[in-house]
Amino acid sequence: MKALKVLIAGGAGFIGSTIASACVDNGITPVILDNLATGRREFTEGRTFYEGDICDGALIDRIFAEHPDITTAVDCAALIVVPDSVANPLGYYRENVSKGIQFLEHLVRNDCRNLLFSSSASLYRADPEDFSVDENSPVDTLSPYARTKAVFETVLADVAAAGTLNVISLRYFNPIGADPQLRTGLQIRTPTHALGKMIDVHHAGEAFPLTGTDYPTRDGSGLRDYVHVWDLAAAHIKAVEHFATITREAPYRVINLGTGRGTTVRELVTAFETVTGTPLPTTETPHHRDPPPPGRLRRRLCPRRPRPGPPRLEGGTLPRGRHPRLPALVREARHRPWRRGLTGEARTAGPFPSECQGGRAGGVPDPAHRSFSHRLIETPEGRGLAGRPLLGRRT
Ligand SMILES: NC(=O)c1ccc[n+]([C@@H]2O[C@H](COP(=O)([O-])OP(=O)(O)OC[C@H]3O[C@@H](n4cnc5c(N)ncnc54)[C@H](O)[C@@H]3O)[C@@H](O)[C@H]2O)c1
Repeated sequence: MKALKVLIAGGAGFIGSTIASACVDNGITPVILDNLATGRREFTEGRTFYEGDICDGALIDRIFAEHPDITTAVDCAALIVVPDSVANPLGYYRENVSKGIQFLEHLVRNDCRNLLFSSSASLYRADPEDFSVDENSPVDTLSPYARTKAVFETVLADVAAAGTLNVISLRYFNPIGADPQLRTGLQIRTPTHALGKMIDVHHAGEAFPLTGTDYPTRDGSGLRDYVHVWDLAAAHIKAVEHFATITREAPYRVINLGTGRGTTVRELVTAFETVTGTPLPTTETPHHRDPPPPGRLRRRLCPRRPRPGPPRLEGGTLPRGRHPRLPALVREARHRPWRRGLTGEARTAGPFPSECQGGRAGGVPDPAHRSFSHRLIETPEGRGLAGRPLLGRRT
């Protein structure tokens, strides 16, 4: 089989760099395009890297002139912090939609007709009965960030329908963890998701605040469908390898990437203790929240289990069953050698690179954002990626 070469826009970021590592491991050559707004230069070391913006047509023409054998573009370039998108919607629409459209034009001009788009599960409205979602669930966005993904997906669907591009949109759920070889990982100094918080309190010798123990989940604690970023990367590899098959019948395909089960905070604590070999003290506090607005349903974080109908990646790349790869996920997230370079270093402009997390760039925690995001973290199935009732309550 002919060796594949892919262009990864945003390949210096958390997910894009992990996909690039998976490409290398699978004999696919990654070519990285990144403006380093939130990505890290060291994540591109040893890889073909073009520093620049996805809207820079001259640069993209040069990339294709130098790599005419690129078959597929993977678009991971975006700004992804929900509170920042609320504060600066224009900036988010510019970066995630306007520049994305320019990127599409540059790809088409260079005859690159396959696009794998990093989309988000934050655009779904959950099933009122079991709070689950699948690819056919209605789109009901809760934040400007999610709307930028939904709007851009609409553009992609139209462009694909016109026969201009073939597109696979992969909608993610809560990626955490890292490349098992620890080449890259989450590049922020103070991750605010539950696992990041556990790592921080473990190192600080503090207790983990478990907020909310009476949610309607299997053990009362909040539940999310955390997905190992390495599994996400594996799914991208499958999608690249089987692109033509997946898009044969429809030029625009949407596929959820999740485990379909979810992990509760208590389960995450247990996995953490298994990996570290030491108990993780926790302080349990009731959750504080207003009742959902009338008619508004809580959002579940798990995709539905596969069922006939929606497309699935060939090869079944994602794990199934209870606690999929949880210990591995914790282990790989714990060791973050790439974060050494972050110590004491103020990052330049740009938001924290994880959707639904608060906080500011430069590793300077914004207390309002931390509080906002932490409450999201501890929320159960109902709160989803950007719980509507919490938006605007950043205190
Ligand atoms: N992290 C999550 O929780 C999550 C969940 C679902 C979907 N996603 C999607 O996955 C993709 C990657 O997210 P991530 O977590 O790796 O974020 P990230 O911030 O780590 O990576 C984004 C990368 O894109 C680059 N970039 C941004 N705008 C650019 C532009 N105009 N031109 C060139 N490069 C640009 C950044 O420098 C960064 O390296 C995004 O599209 C995001 O919406 C992320």
